[in-house]
Amino acid sequence: MAQQLGETKAREEWGTRLGFVCAAVGSAVGLGNIWRFPYITGENGGAAFIVVYLLCILLCGLPIMIAELTIGRKAQSDAVGSFEVLAPGKLWIVGGVLGVLAGFFILSFYSVVAGWALKYFATAVSGSLWEIDKAGFGQFFGDYIAQSWEPIFWQGTMMAMTIYIVAGGVKKGLERWNRILIPALAIMVILLAGFSLTLDGAAKGVAFLFTPDWKKLGDPNVYLLALGQAFFSLSIGMAVFITYGSYLSQSSRIPVMASATAAGDTIFAIIAGLAIFPAVFAFGFDPSAGAGLSFITLPGLFQAMPGGMVVGPLFFLLLVFAALTSMASLLEVPVAFFMRVLEAPRGKIAIITGFVIFAIGIPSSLGFGVLGHIKWGDKTILDIMDFLMLNLALPIGGMITALFVGWAWQQQSVLSDVGLGKNVLGFCWLWLLKVVAPLMVLFVFLHKLNLV
Ligand code: TRP
Repeated sequence: MAQQLGETKAREEWGTRLGFVCAAVGSAVGLGNIWRFPYITGENGGAAFIVVYLLCILLCGLPIMIAELTIGRKAQSDAVGSFEVLAPGKLWIVGGVLGVLAGFFILSFYSVVAGWALKYFATAVSGSLWEIDKAGFGQFFGDYIAQSWEPIFWQGTMMAMTIYIVAGGVKKGLERWNRILIPALAIMVILLAGFSLTLDGAAKGVAFLFTPDWKKLGDPNVYLLALGQAFFSLSIGMAVFITYGSYLSQSSRIPVMASATAAGDTIFAIIAGLAIFPAVFAFGFDPSAGAGLSFITLPGLFQAMPGGMVVGPLFFLLLVFAALTSMASLLEVPVAFFMRVLEAPRGKIAIITGFVIFAIGIPSSLGFGVLGHIKWGDKTILDIMDFLMLNLALPIGGMITALFVGWAWQQQSVLSDVGLGKNVLGFCWLWLLKVVAPLMVLFVFLHKLNLV
């Protein structure tokens, strides 16, 4: 067992390989797959966007996920500690610090949206959601999120469940719950897609997802969104996989497990698209309904379709579970860090950290109501946080990881540390980290700043 950084206790470890993959997929599959991926795809040309997205995953996302896991397993420490072990006194540590900070802020607003999902689940089960007039779902959603107390209550409930999972530890918390929730999620999304595909007119939705409009590839924004979405959906760029990698045994095969995770995440996003678009087209709704797709368009759809009273609650339960497993991974990053630095027990740290993050998230919730005057352009507080994290913190974090493993690490050592060896695959991975991934991120930045 590793005994670095003066740790006297053996570091926690995953119980089984399958358990780790469930936890990794649990982190990756989240609101990003069900709430974000379909509407971004809808707004950006359907299949053409998916093609670009797949390239981003392969050329940038997966290599960085592998790099994060390798850092964590080698150093056997948390986000910040790993850089201290591998590159003492160097500036690379910024990558770890950014990760812990990003964990705070992403989780703070993520839990707000997760809270909306839980509220919708509750009202769908109680039946009150279906009493709304079919033209009234937009109004209902707008009125609901503008309230002060109720959204905060549901946000806090999601947070409490997250704290409970993380407080249980690596094996008895993260691994155990993901092993239950991930198969449940897979079954639910497959059932939903199966149902959606049997509807009359479903073929149009399938065509929308799989027939690319190549003209869209001329629009630089498509690349920008695809890369941001790839980072967010894979949970990379904020040291989740450094932390998770530190609980891996030396014999586990990182490239295989990371590929399984990335494949699981991508397949899940596509099946979520197959659950949503065929139904949207079958009932003549608008596929590019923006962020309201899940909370405005779909409730109307469930109300209109046969079996919607069953499908609706199932969909929101899917959203809640997916969000919960991702939230646990977001909380684990700062918790692992503070456990080491403060030398305090996991349970206590999980409660305090979770509570602070909950408090930080409150303005994001109120930004749709009493704090509605705080805006940057047309962005609310939640949108601003989302924008800064997805477009700045995650890409910078990912770039630091890629450059660190690609350039600061001895080539011999890194290839054996990752378990790829000196073969084509190993060198491809290294070059993607050294050159391709950083250039992709750089391009996106320069574009953001209107320089290209
Ligand atoms: N990947 C999750 C989703 O798709 C969100 C998430 C969890 C995340 N952990 C992360 C995003 C770490 C960025 C970094 O919803």
